[in-house]
Amino acid sequence: QHQKYIRNFSIVAHIDHGKSTIADRILELTDTVSKRDMQDQVLDDMDLERERGITIKLNAVELKYHAKDGETYEFHLIDTPGHVDFSYEVSRSLAACEGAVLVVDAAQGVQAQTLANVYLAIDDDLAIIPDINKVDLPSAEPEKVQEEIEEVIGLDASNAIMTSAKTGLGIEDLLEAIVNEIPAPQGDLTAPLRALIFDSVYDDYRGVVLSVRVFEGTVKPGDKIRLMNSGTEYEVNEVGVNSPKPIKRDYLMAGEVGYITASIKDITETRVGDTVTNAAAPAEEPLPGYREMNPMVYAGLYPTDNAKYVDLREALEKLKLNDASLEFEPETSQALGHGFRVGFLGMLHMDVIQERLEREFNLDLITTAPSVTYHAELTDGSEKDVDNPAEMPDSSELSKIEEPYVKATIMVPNDYVGAVMELCQSRRGEFLTMDYLDKYRVNILYNMPLSEIIFDFFDKLKSSTRGFGSLDYDVSGYQTSDLVKIDILLNGEKVDALSFIAHRTFAERRGREIATRLKNIIPRQNFEIAIQAAIGGKIIARTTVKPYRKDVTAKLYGGDRTRRMKLLEKQKAGKKRMKAVGKVDIPQEAFMAVLKTD
Ligand code: GTP
Repeated sequence: QHQKYIRNFSIVAHIDHGKSTIADRILELTDTVSKRDMQDQVLDDMDLERERGITIKLNAVELKYHAKDGETYEFHLIDTPGHVDFSYEVSRSLAACEGAVLVVDAAQGVQAQTLANVYLAIDDDLAIIPDINKVDLPSAEPEKVQEEIEEVIGLDASNAIMTSAKTGLGIEDLLEAIVNEIPAPQGDLTAPLRALIFDSVYDDYRGVVLSVRVFEGTVKPGDKIRLMNSGTEYEVNEVGVNSPKPIKRDYLMAGEVGYITASIKDITETRVGDTVTNAAAPAEEPLPGYREMNPMVYAGLYPTDNAKYVDLREALEKLKLNDASLEFEPETSQALGHGFRVGFLGMLHMDVIQERLEREFNLDLITTAPSVTYHAELTDGSEKDVDNPAEMPDSSELSKIEEPYVKATIMVPNDYVGAVMELCQSRRGEFLTMDYLDKYRVNILYNMPLSEIIFDFFDKLKSSTRGFGSLDYDVSGYQTSDLVKIDILLNGEKVDALSFIAHRTFAERRGREIATRLKNIIPRQNFEIAIQAAIGGKIIARTTVKPYRKDVTAKLYGGDRTRRMKLLEKQKAGKKRMKAVGKVDIPQEAFMAVLKTD
């Protein structure tokens, strides 16, 4: 029976430990992709993923493996991202699998995201195959890493596979282990259809393409399907698998991973985590869905050209389709006009969304400084959630502000404990505990305000631990804090989009720092620009941007009008990510400047 020969698995790892490269080698070894078509990280098909060398979106691919037992197996490999911002993508792919390959870098050992990801797999009761990768590196210490996997994670690593995704060593052993150690899927082929949607994308020709894992029953073209949570019904046009190009199939059955298209045009009705069933013979209960992901930070997103507001809304709706964690609602800023308040899982997520919107939808955008959600209690007894600093009530109206705290887990070699503590302390961290993982490595726990770690904490951690520190965090709850709002004024006008919130003890210093920083960022114009920082109406800092003395075009010999126009045109085209606020042009960096720390 066919199911016996199916293996559904994911690869999980800390970032850069080699997941995508292992996936490449697997595709090559199984002739899924010919050597000629092979380019690095085939599954990272977004340009952005290639350029940054990271996996952002999960990808599913089917491949055929001729095993040593003489049988041919159908593998469904689901690649997952490793960065902390994208861990929700990991749990989504795991829900579609029976097993996971846990990749650990032979030189770096177990890191914070190794732990976070493997625990997700353990929670889902998946079979786990430890794979120690990069054994070709001179600094590789595979035996030490093997011990670490046993001690730190508590997994038996005596049969760990040793691989080098670079040279191809051990990849075949890994494929054999997948056949032998990961169970075949089970699921009644004759039961009513139940398929989990774990991803979806919008295609201009085919409509919404659903990526599904079929748990029970079968689905084929012509079937009437129903999405159980949204209640909508469609007729299936096509089913198939990605290998990695789409290949049509006559049907998909219990145990398989593939895609369904059904001329679904309304992108708002397909939700990742929903269950597809057959409308004529529906299942009684949907499959358990996904944990809802709550955004950690919110930022304003505005088109630099106000006329592009509707385009931005459409683009956000399309992106939300394959990024369920994206949340947005319209907002209006006095300074920036109409835009959206958008929720993100972290700064990398925010960067990625901004870049995808700009590239895939040809928009030019400004994002304001990200903010966490504060709970404010007002003197009149009412309460308010504030995710936009500009909307924080004046301190005279406030009785209490609470901010979100996280439990941060930091793993470092013991030489860096001092540096990490210093960094955490400077970010208002409260020390919780410290444990030795083995002779060399420590796990440090801090209770910290989320606002102190979202922006550049991870970069600072990396630089103060020479790249060895790794971080994971979970929201632990809200705590009362003594916070104040700082406003920025340009030529006496408050710019709402530049307001920010800081702890009272740092507020004045931050106000001064930011006024100075803005002075260096805001380009000179032909008039003077006064920059002021204020707390509740009291000015705490002032700087000025001097006007430029000469006309830019003056250096052109002669007053040739067309050349002059050309130069002005050129300047205009180069004016990316710049927004005119009143008469002042403010570049993107200015909005982020309020969060920078040195
Ligand atoms: P994300 O997709 O961002 O989560 O990272 P990843 O875990 O997929 O890592 P990726 O495959 O992108 O590899 C990271 C880096 O390590 C790349 O520069 C690879 O070329 C390199 N690398 C991967 N495997 C090996 C290996 O076995 N040996 C050596 N020397 N380098 C490797």
